[in-house]
Amino acid sequence: MPPSLVTHPPIRSYVLRQGRFSPAQQRAYADLMPRLGVAYRPAPLDFAAVFGREAPVVAEIGSGMGETTARIAAENPGTDYLAIEVHAPGVGSLLKRLDAEGIANVRVVTHDAVEVMRDMVPEGSLAAIHVFFPDPWPKKRHHKRRLLQPGFAALAASRLAPGGHLHVATDWQDYAEHVLAVLSEVPILRNTAEGFAPRPPARPETKFERRGRRLGHGVWDLVFVRG
Ligand SMILES: C[S@@+](CC[C@H](N)C(=O)[O-])C[C@H]1O[C@@H](n2cnc3c(N)ncnc32)[C@H](O)[C@@H]1O
Repeated sequence: MPPSLVTHPPIRSYVLRQGRFSPAQQRAYADLMPRLGVAYRPAPLDFAAVFGREAPVVAEIGSGMGETTARIAAENPGTDYLAIEVHAPGVGSLLKRLDAEGIANVRVVTHDAVEVMRDMVPEGSLAAIHVFFPDPWPKKRHHKRRLLQPGFAALAASRLAPGGHLHVATDWQDYAEHVLAVLSEVPILRNTAEGFAPRPPARPETKFERRGRRLGHGVWDLVFVRG
């Protein structure tokens, strides 16, 4: 899809709050962004130049504090990961973790994922896109802020290579049903399951998720493939 056809939603999927930016996160951010960060620029990235090699690339959208991103990257050293997160303290945590664990296959963009996917990620370039526990915006009047909307779903699908996967996980049932309906309407995507998918072993179960399960909360995985 030509970038000019993708209009940015007037309402963003996040609100940047002045959260706590701990000294350790700030230090990691200052020290490591020059090496592991990619600045937002409205120009397509050359992944081979960004990662210093030719390898499949996965986009992790909303990487949060980075536990899952770091784990998946450590378990898949042959794949490169582009983590996209607006919350700088979270990026600081991810960077600190990458440095401490010597994980070399992650680069980070601190910017709105809608704009990064639209402007920087070339069409047909990704082996997979992970959107794990996107902000649920549970109040009905806030549903319009949810990231997974028809426009973003079409944009994300266009960035996948043929055979690439779009994997979404959420612990909000009504968001899960909404995502299922939205992704099912994208012509170039096919659901890999009948409805929701079993949790793929490649998605590590988080502490928060284990606690949720004990409390009887559900988690819904959706795995679609680009035809
Ligand atoms: C509920 S957290 C989940 C974090 C992580 N994926 C996990 O499973 O722990 C959602 C994250 O998405 C980020 N986020 C929301 N909208 C975003 C956007 N448009 N671009 C980049 N990050 C976004 C938020 O800042 C937040 O860190």
